[in-house]
Amino acid sequence: METVSTERVLAVEVELDRLTKRFGATAAVYGLSLSVGRGEFCTLLGPSGCGKTTTLRIVAGLVEPDDGRVLFDGKDVTRLPPWDRNLGMVFQNYALWPHMTVFDNVAFGLVERRVPKAEVRRRVAEALDKVGLTGMEGRFPSQLSGGQQQRVALARALVVRPGLLLLDEPFSNLDAKLRVQMRAELARLQRDLGITTLYVTHDQEEALVLSDRIAVLDSGRLVQAGTPRELYENPRDVFVADFLGGANLLPGMVVRRGAAEVEVQAGEARVAAPVEGEAAPGQPVWLSVRPEHLELSVGDAGDLRGTVLATDYLGWTLQAEVALADGTRLQVRGLDPSTPLRPGQTVGLRVRSGRARVFPRRN
Ligand SMILES: Nc1ncnc2c1ncn2[C@@H]1O[C@H](COP(=O)(O)OP(=O)(O)OP(=O)(O)O)[C@@H](O)[C@H]1O
Ligand SMILES: [Mg+2]
Repeated sequence: METVSTERVLAVEVELDRLTKRFGATAAVYGLSLSVGRGEFCTLLGPSGCGKTTTLRIVAGLVEPDDGRVLFDGKDVTRLPPWDRNLGMVFQNYALWPHMTVFDNVAFGLVERRVPKAEVRRRVAEALDKVGLTGMEGRFPSQLSGGQQQRVALARALVVRPGLLLLDEPFSNLDAKLRVQMRAELARLQRDLGITTLYVTHDQEEALVLSDRIAVLDSGRLVQAGTPRELYENPRDVFVADFLGGANLLPGMVVRRGAAEVEVQAGEARVAAPVEGEAAPGQPVWLSVRPEHLELSVGDAGDLRGTVLATDYLGWTLQAEVALADGTRLQVRGLDPSTPLRPGQTVGLRVRSGRARVFPRRN
């Protein structure tokens, strides 16, 4: 029987130690190590099929890894069944029981744990209050909107006061506006409860907004982990730069090497960029420039000259696609919506000072 505990949960510290999981010949997860601090909101981010769900299911105990360990507070839980891991889980499809009321859906985990009836009522009421569903106890899932069903799923995960919350694309079935609203509510709840959270998404904006730390996965491997700002400002490679925030990639060559900086010639443009490690003159590199780090001017002044292919008017801002003479297409974001741009127009582009990054180019 559980004892009555305080509002804040006993958040756990999670460590994934060189996890590998194969399905036949493909490694869904390969050599993945990651630490998630107590109370931290950590997001697994990556394209479809990169191993996010598999990793989450390993942490939950629903999938056994071929190799590696899962540690909660330093204790090896790799072989523990899910019900002994003190977890709350929310999946993409909510997985509510259609024949059970909201109350019974939320109460389920407590009843299973043989919590006394009076406390079940109190805690279900508390959980429903947290997600803004007081008064809906008697409804069935079919009588709820998508957002409300999602809230029930969240209440059901939280009611057992888990030390770890696992969320797999929990808002992907919701429309854009509701997604943003639920996202804000989740962020508030997570902060209030101080619960360690491992969140899965392929939506970069969601990852940036919610996370203390983001782990970017590619083909089952961890590419880079860091704060949203670290990843956005200093992506480790072209994959991270492009996946998180988007990047225009220009093939270039190092022409001068300074202490912490290189000068790169990319087409007509000569651009300085910070660099660590090797980069000798003559070395082929990618010059990576984010769409919002290109300054556009009508006319042909700038580092690069191009022709407008298309513009997107978004009301508060304007973005454009520009083709360089060699055919390279560049995305430009964050333009003043009153900029008089039309397809076919000649424009000049300048790379904002200090904003370009270079990555090795092997071809
Ligand atoms: N039970 C399974 N049997 C065989 N292959 C699987 C199984 N589960 C996952 N895979 C494969 O493992 C890889 C990783 O799958 P996973 O579901 O972890 O990806 P994901 O990052 O969650 O993708 P998505 O964003 O599409 O949900 C994929 O290639 C997938 O086809
Ligand atoms: Mg998935």
